Amino acid sequence: MNQDELKRAAALAALAHVVRGAVVGVGTGSTVNHFIDGLATMRGEIAGAVSSSEASTQRLSALGIPVFALDEVESIPVYVDGADEIDGSFNMIKGGGGALTREKIVAAVAERFVCICDASKRVERLGHFPLPVEVVPMARAHVARQLAKLGGRVVERADFVTDNGNLILDVHDLTIDDPVALESEVDHIAGVVTNGLFARRGADVLLLATPQGVRSLAR
Ligand code: A5P
Repeated sequence: MNQDELKRAAALAALAHVVRGAVVGVGTGSTVNHFIDGLATMRGEIAGAVSSSEASTQRLSALGIPVFALDEVESIPVYVDGADEIDGSFNMIKGGGGALTREKIVAAVAERFVCICDASKRVERLGHFPLPVEVVPMARAHVARQLAKLGGRVVERADFVTDNGNLILDVHDLTIDDPVALESEVDHIAGVVTNGLFARRGADVLLLATPQGVRSLAR
């Protein structure tokens, strides 16, 4: 199985976690795209979706799945999303696609986070993947200096604007010993909108696709 087939296997396994009659939270990325395609087969069984990005909204809408604004829904029993890295405690780095802020908002509302990944995303320690940080443009230089003080090498993502009109600084070579503490520390820099550490609210379930099958792991 190639990596895309593994992503698809994890995504389709998540359909069993979707609550009938309810709204499902939908993340962003190539793995989630497979989930959205699968969700189309359940169109009549769900109320609709809350989306974490313009890209996912477009794909959901094209498949005839109703998309609600977050303000319109009372609850989201399940949120399904991928990750760039996930550790043994289900802390994640997300935001490789730049949708981290809306992903974090929808995940915060959801009762359960189901993470869908191929096995390459599972790591012992977070930080090999650069940490994405969404930043208000006028704060670019200030935030970059503060992030460098944390020991990272900061690279602005070229030619990229988030769905919220902001930029992304990718922080390479961070040593992440305490993901919860680092998530809070980065969030407290003035000008930071969100960072891609999902540790205060990690995943609840991990569907990890391996060549031997999809492993379902619970925290
Ligand atoms: C989007 O901003 C990200 O958080 C994605 O969830 C993450 O990058 C995983 O993407 P893939 O499923 O494309 O690997």
